[in-house]
Amino acid sequence: MWGDGGLRYGGDYNPEQWPAEVWREDVALMRRARVNLVTVGVFAWSRLEPAPGRYTFDWLDRVLDLLHDNDIRVALATPTASPPPWFSLAHPDSLPVTADGVRLHHGSRDTYCAAAPAYRAAARRVAAALADRYAHHPGVALWHVHNEYGTTCHCAHTGRAFRRWLASRYGDLDTLNAAWATSFWSQHYTDWAQVDTPRATQYLANPGHLLDFRRFWSDTLLAAYVEQRDLLRAAAPAVPVTTNYVLGDWVPVDHARWAAEVDVVAIDHYPDASDGGAEEQTALAADLARGWARHGARRRTGHAERAAPWLLMESAPGQIHTAGRMHAKEPGRMARHSLSHVARGSRGVMFFQWRAPAGGAERFHSALVPHAGPDTRVFREAVALGAAMERLSEVAGAAVEAEVAIAWDAASGWALDHPGMPSPRLSYRDEVHAAHRALWRAGFGCDVVPPGDPLDGYRLLVLPALYLASDATAEWARRHVHRGGHLLVTWLSGVADEHARVRLGGHPGALRDVLGVRVEEFHPLAEDETLPLRAGGTGHLWAETVRLAGATAVTSYAGGVLDGLPAVTRHRFGAGTAWYLSTRPDDATYRRLLTDAARSAGAAPVCPGAPAGVEAVRRRGAGTSWLFLLNHTDRPQRVPAAGVDLLTGATIDPEVHLPAGGAAVLREAAADH
Ligand code: GAL
Repeated sequence: MWGDGGLRYGGDYNPEQWPAEVWREDVALMRRARVNLVTVGVFAWSRLEPAPGRYTFDWLDRVLDLLHDNDIRVALATPTASPPPWFSLAHPDSLPVTADGVRLHHGSRDTYCAAAPAYRAAARRVAAALADRYAHHPGVALWHVHNEYGTTCHCAHTGRAFRRWLASRYGDLDTLNAAWATSFWSQHYTDWAQVDTPRATQYLANPGHLLDFRRFWSDTLLAAYVEQRDLLRAAAPAVPVTTNYVLGDWVPVDHARWAAEVDVVAIDHYPDASDGGAEEQTALAADLARGWARHGARRRTGHAERAAPWLLMESAPGQIHTAGRMHAKEPGRMARHSLSHVARGSRGVMFFQWRAPAGGAERFHSALVPHAGPDTRVFREAVALGAAMERLSEVAGAAVEAEVAIAWDAASGWALDHPGMPSPRLSYRDEVHAAHRALWRAGFGCDVVPPGDPLDGYRLLVLPALYLASDATAEWARRHVHRGGHLLVTWLSGVADEHARVRLGGHPGALRDVLGVRVEEFHPLAEDETLPLRAGGTGHLWAETVRLAGATAVTSYAGGVLDGLPAVTRHRFGAGTAWYLSTRPDDATYRRLLTDAARSAGAAPVCPGAPAGVEAVRRRGAGTSWLFLLNHTDRPQRVPAAGVDLLTGATIDPEVHLPAGGAAVLREAAADH
């Protein structure tokens, strides 16, 4: 199996870009770096099928054999994210159309419409040809379908598929009209033929229409994945199948929903903050992946699997892209990002890409083997990281500990993107990230879970901007509190139903009873506007007129029209407690509030003595635990901890000395926890 026997280490390998002499050097260098898994063929369609139905597998045969002879296993990709020029010329109706009605042309990658029958058929054919040839190759450990599903289209094929999807979701037009509130602005549909994709229009588009288009597109891409998966599975039942998730607000993919369809969740992660935010983004991405992996495993198997595997399929070895600028990762930072993923459950660390190409659009993207060759800092760090991954192999399969859960709901993010929201400054990802960051800085272990997932074992559930709440989602949160759990809800959660229709009677409609508040009015704040809070700190971005309906005020607004009105509240409900934040507190205040909420719920930080900037994550397996300590500061740090450091072999007691930017992974003695 791909994940057995320790951790995977490697990345995207593109031998089709190089002559065979380079392959031999590649494999020698891979062995030096202890690479044990590479993704092959991900953009190789035009080299695998240079003309319709004519396959040239000889080079891939040689590459797979060479890798296998050197004990390097392969995640064999289907190349369907980049159809060759001949395909686009032969099937112009498979080229994607933008919302403005512009048909795109061949010239980059991802230039296809996933609803176009010719594209789907060609994708199935090339995947079947690969399955046929390599299903029994001993080096193939994993199928890697496609690359980063995430493109959209507005062509006629898509329009037809969208109408079919809507008809099966709503049954009849009356139900659709009600869900989309089409009485507003004369949008009432009387014939299915009138319904199209949300193309560019004069002014604000219908929120329900936009939301359903994202849902439809997620399902369409999923169907494209599933048909490839099924034929790969049929050819090689023992080889697991996955696809690499791309994380980003533009991606029309509900990753939680997809998780049940992949054998292992795989994510690509490229932080875009070059300051300390990169580490916080890394932690959130990994926690998301773990939540999806567990969710998928539970839906597939019917029971909870706390250590469900997931894999970091791509990350950048040497660079962080900030607003188009490639910022070189400082020495040690690649390793710390990698260790953070492993700490948070990844079964390995993979990079885009193995070797930097001489040409092509991404010629300046970082690689484990840079343009300057192996005699470089980056490659030496890659070799050291490969050795570290071997030393950490015993942690593979251990569960990550967390007492706090944060909900993540793709549809809430899509709905909050609508330009008709009361503030143009809303971002779902920013709100989840702000809550996650506050917990990260306070040192609490945190899982990110899809709404509806079991909450046993979590002391505190956090719902940041969970804008859409179905009755079932509201009941899920309510039950958690009723049974004695603690809940912290932020502004804009529970405001709308699953169709993005506002719930009436005061906000947050779905959660008023559990929170014991009723919000009368929103007060979105301007970019330079803040509101002081009586207990210290400031509110940003948003404020509300909150009326107490059973809750008590924790702090109130000071000054302005909201002077004296509650800003943060607490409410006993059933056997538990529910907090409400009607504003986005500044980072320090948010951290303090979440610390208070987590501590009063009975949660404790992972490593109470860890100084600021040292990330601590604990994993636990049968009878053993491992404490990951990552020093993201530029100063040496001491952390009270004991155990054997797997990275150095040293026995640590009573404190570990972490060099600036350094890390330790301690196998803790059973008595230490
Ligand atoms: C990923 C993609 C890779 C490469 C990389 C660059 O999103 O899967 O093929 O383009 O980005 O950062």
